[in-house]
Amino acid sequence: MASYISSSSLSTVNHVTVALALLLVVFTGSSSAKLSTGFYSKSCPKVFSTVRPVLINALSKAPRLGASLLRLHFHDCFVNGCDGSVLLDDTASTKGEKTAGPNNRSIRGFKVVDDIKTAVEKVCPGVVSCADILAIAARDSVVILGGPNWAVKVGRRDSKTASFSDANNGNLPPPTFNLTNLISSFRAKGLSTQDMVALSGGHTIGQTRCLTFRDRIYNETNIDSSFAKLRQSTCPRNTGGRKNLAPLDIQTPNHFDNKYFKNLLGQKGLLHSDQELYNGGSTDSLVKTYSNNPKTFSNDFITAMIKMGDIEPLTGSSGEIRKNCRRAN
Ligand code: HEM
Ligand SMILES: *[C@@H]1O[C@H](CO)[C@@H](O)[C@H](O)[C@H]1NC(C)=O
Ligand SMILES: *[C@@H]1O[C@H](CO)[C@@H](O)[C@H](O)[C@H]1NC(C)=O
Ligand SMILES: *[C@@H]1O[C@H](CO)[C@@H](O)[C@H](O)[C@H]1NC(C)=O
Repeated sequence: MASYISSSSLSTVNHVTVALALLLVVFTGSSSAKLSTGFYSKSCPKVFSTVRPVLINALSKAPRLGASLLRLHFHDCFVNGCDGSVLLDDTASTKGEKTAGPNNRSIRGFKVVDDIKTAVEKVCPGVVSCADILAIAARDSVVILGGPNWAVKVGRRDSKTASFSDANNGNLPPPTFNLTNLISSFRAKGLSTQDMVALSGGHTIGQTRCLTFRDRIYNETNIDSSFAKLRQSTCPRNTGGRKNLAPLDIQTPNHFDNKYFKNLLGQKGLLHSDQELYNGGSTDSLVKTYSNNPKTFSNDFITAMIKMGDIEPLTGSSGEIRKNCRRAN
């Protein structure tokens, strides 16, 4: 009897433990578990078919916008999770993320986000978050520019605030980072070294300013000399030209492909951080793989984009669905 009681109470303890463990999984893992590809299938079945044509039209006139939108999603997710905070304008009481160091005079695409939001609000008012619009727009941009397709997970809600200091202080990796720094910066967001290298392949599209690569093209030695000269021609050493643009991918800046990795093999990475991925370190072999095997790059990029999109979303009754992506309701 005694043994029966004790084994019964043991099994009760076990049940409690299991229940607690399950609760823990539900609550800590809930953030990403709550996102799903079908989140809007009843509440806004036309969301995807509404977003896509706005972007096809915008990118046909200005393909760089695709790059800018991909980057917006990244900068949103790395600062307090994918919560649309990067889209908030400054208010009288809070300075937002737009003018933080990594973003100031550099992130763009807000007008097309507004256009998408307007189109989506017309078909289902008050349903689709701005954070989800960024995730969908990033995927669509990649697809429209010739890259891989995947089903985007949605169900994020929008933050009511943004944080200038969180966007300034260490969440977003600067282009001066070395490989070790890059790996730990992504690790801090739950992303692996493979995710980091694959996501850096986002630099197969888009542009960067002279001030971010000036040191590299004048001072670094792991750079192809004719490539350095070419970039120096529009990025003077001393003064001026800070805002002059150059493509991150010298070959096909408006096409999402694996040329970025081929460039790295030829020491034609434009940012210091780009070339760090192929500079005699632990990621050299992965860069080689991606440069030889576009399919492997596509698959790993998709995996990493989904993981990045899962970073700390607001779900359930947290946050809100903003009416205007630039301000809290
Ligand atoms: C690995 C660490 C990364 C660093 C250090 C980095 C740094 C930068 C810098 C400095 C610029 C140019 C900013 C300017 O001159 O205005 C840039 C542009 C860009 N980044 Fe990254 N980035 C990183 C990762 C990523 C990731 C994960 C993505 C997306 C998957 C991404 C997508 C882009 C795109 C598309 C552009 C061009 C944007 C445009 O043309 O408007 N980057 N990045
Ligand atoms: C953003 O950049 C502009 C132009 O360089 C500068 O005047 C402004 O002070 C910067 N903002 C912040 C918050 O650093
Ligand atoms: C990378 O940079 C950090 C400083 O940010 C430095 O401590 C570290 O030694 C560097 N690592 C390598 C391998 O150069
Ligand atoms: C290159 O290195 C020199 C010497 O360290 C430094 O004075 C200069 O500011 C660096 N950058 C450029 C663009 O020359």
